[in-house]
Amino acid sequence: MSLEVVILAAGKGKRMNSQLPKVLHKVANKPMLFHVIETAFQLSPSAIHIVVGHKSELIEEALKDLPCDISRIVQVSHQKELLGTGDAVASALPKINEESDVLVLYGDNPLTPLDDIQRLTALLEDNPLCVLSAYARDPFGYGRIVRNEEGFLKEIVEEKDASEQIRKIKEINSGIMVTTAKVLRKYLPMIKNDNNQGEYYLTDLAGILVKENKIVDVLQSSNFDLLTGVNSKPQLAFAERTYQSIQANKLLAQGVTLADPNRFDLRGSLKCGQDVFIDINCIFEGNVTLGNNVQIGAGCVIKNCTIDDDSIISPYTIMEDSTICKKNTIGPFARLRPGNVLNDEVHVGNFVEVKKSTLGVGTKSGHLSYLGDAVIGKNVNIGAGTITCNYDGANKFKTVIGDDVFVGSDSQLVAPVEIKNGVTIAAGTTVTKHTQMDENSLILTRAQSVKIDSYVRPTKKK
Ligand code: UD1
Ligand code: CA
Repeated sequence: MSLEVVILAAGKGKRMNSQLPKVLHKVANKPMLFHVIETAFQLSPSAIHIVVGHKSELIEEALKDLPCDISRIVQVSHQKELLGTGDAVASALPKINEESDVLVLYGDNPLTPLDDIQRLTALLEDNPLCVLSAYARDPFGYGRIVRNEEGFLKEIVEEKDASEQIRKIKEINSGIMVTTAKVLRKYLPMIKNDNNQGEYYLTDLAGILVKENKIVDVLQSSNFDLLTGVNSKPQLAFAERTYQSIQANKLLAQGVTLADPNRFDLRGSLKCGQDVFIDINCIFEGNVTLGNNVQIGAGCVIKNCTIDDDSIISPYTIMEDSTICKKNTIGPFARLRPGNVLNDEVHVGNFVEVKKSTLGVGTKSGHLSYLGDAVIGKNVNIGAGTITCNYDGANKFKTVIGDDVFVGSDSQLVAPVEIKNGVTIAAGTTVTKHTQMDENSLILTRAQSVKIDSYVRPTKKK
């Protein structure tokens, strides 16, 4: 039997107080809807239907960023008017194969747990409809699972329609359910909107089937936190922290040392070798790989980088799209913009900005420099305040520096320029393509100093 997934994403998300449709709000820098789609994809469904409505064009635009193996099976259905979750599923139904099983997920459930939905879909063999429930510490806002004397599900009642008695029930409806296309075709049209919100509730399907003498199965999830529906910013913040704590715990279990798992953020994937230490308040984005014995200081932001064994990244370093080889020492306060390769034992110190540059083995730039579009050899010393002047206002040019070069402090290398092996550049020198040099020569610019005797400094006007 083939499985199709319907993900509801048409709602406005009024309680978010935002121009952005609710399901595009992000958890770990990824739209909530994408989290749900990626989880659904792991069930190997034949199709994933996204029901869109409010600001559908923004959601369709966002869907273009899905990886192609997923987008191949994604189909968009338009809900014309937002008449409720029952109507939303009905709007996807014409595209669903008559013989398929159907899993309904909500786009505002970013942490939808894969193991629960796997177990839920397996239950469908016995009964026509299975819903996923959980016990909530505070069930406010959720649909309640109402059971009969024998303990079987009788109906699902929404908060706004619930009596005092029903509101006391702590078993809530996660919104997630599995059924068949046949059941939906037959029973969805029976859902009415005679309730306090005037909506066609998908949840009414349960009561309708029970009245038809069918059994509706309830699978109880053991983790309510993962089933949090995000309707508001506090719930979004809760989902974010829950997600981050799951990721932090996975890393701890693998042997990574996190100074504080509550002050750790991963917005992508992080692979770590052995004996990695990560101090507080770091953010990892995209795909990051850390080798053995790598240490990351407090407050670093690291995006799409590979950092090899025994490298130490000191606090407040920002780096992106760069490859750091072994035994580097970077930071504190270093900035690596995209496109760098730092070979073994490179040192990049505080307030050094490096962009699209390659630094050879053992090369050091300790303080306050800009290295852009540079190819720098081995064992080069870049003095404080060195600037590669790579931009003439219109175009960018390359700086090439040979091995064993010493660049004195406060020098300007006006690109395009090439510094030969072993050259020493004295402090305060401006080097251009016209500068004469041989290997191992000394280059210096010295303006004449002027002496004025008995100089009187300006004083403040009264
Ligand atoms: C829904 C359930 C409730 C459950 C809770 C779990 C119903 C009637 N209620 O309530 O039992 O406890 O989720 O989080 O289903 N949507 C559409 N079209 C619509 C209305 C909503 O696509 O016309 C989408 C929304 O974008 C959202 C999802 O359906 O992704 C759920 O809608 P929402 O309004 O958040 O329902 P809840 O009140 O949270
Ligand atoms: Ca919701």
